[in-house]
Amino acid sequence: MKVIRTEAEWKPIWSEIFKENKQLGFVPTMGALHQGHLDLVAQSIATMDFTVVSIFVNPTQFNSSEDFQKYPQTLDADLGLLEAAGADFVFVPSVATLYPQPTHLRFDFGDLEQVLEGACRPGHFNGVGLVVSKLFHLIKPNRAFFGQKDLQQVAVIKRLVQDLSFDLSLEVVPTRREKDGLAMSSRNMRLNPEERQQALLLYQQLSQAKERLLAGESWKQIQSDTVAAFSSAPNCELEYFTLLHPETFEIFDSLTSESPQSICIAAFVGQVRLIDNLPIIA
Ligand code: PAF
Repeated sequence: MKVIRTEAEWKPIWSEIFKENKQLGFVPTMGALHQGHLDLVAQSIATMDFTVVSIFVNPTQFNSSEDFQKYPQTLDADLGLLEAAGADFVFVPSVATLYPQPTHLRFDFGDLEQVLEGACRPGHFNGVGLVVSKLFHLIKPNRAFFGQKDLQQVAVIKRLVQDLSFDLSLEVVPTRREKDGLAMSSRNMRLNPEERQQALLLYQQLSQAKERLLAGESWKQIQSDTVAAFSSAPNCELEYFTLLHPETFEIFDSLTSESPQSICIAAFVGQVRLIDNLPIIA
């Protein structure tokens, strides 16, 4: 596995891959890797000739500098995991490599960013759009792999690829969960043992809601029960619990069989903000 830090190092490697007519898979990450990331890497390795993983904690997508400072960074462990997983290349750029000068361009993802993560984290998707565009231009992959856990990010990136005619395909890989249901996330590393237990409330509420919805209960009742469950749970604060279309992010107030639907949740457990989602009707 080769670690690459600059565009100059990557260009001749890419040219060789291109000349040989090989397919390049790309897994963009912010490091602090867990099995969810490794699933993306495994999917790329299984279907592509070469796999490159990027590790870059992108400052422009954090809307709080405290959140950025506290984002876990475990580069040595990450490189060990990627080597063992069989990745071919790891791209670890510096901030100066990806942002040689301040950016002026602003992305507007329209209605997609007016709700949920877009509304709760202003500027977040602009930062994601910037860094993912830069990485796509630089790495020039044939296919890029993203996790379904960041459902709204997937929708934003699909729009980015379509609107800017990036010549690549996207692959979305299902959320990897711990045995007790907690969605794997780099942020879980920041939970203390008590918070780790409290964090189970997110998946419990999602799975109960799915069961109740499919049994015919009203979404409004389910949603208000979840609000009540969070307000009586110690150390937890619900931000949203929303039934929506997983690609357009149109919000629904009842179950319909005419459209795919997912439930998305975001909540603080102590100081740690977690998100998760569950497809109801695919
Ligand atoms: O999902 C992430 O880890 C990040 O948002 C991404 C796509 C690597 C961009 O920084």
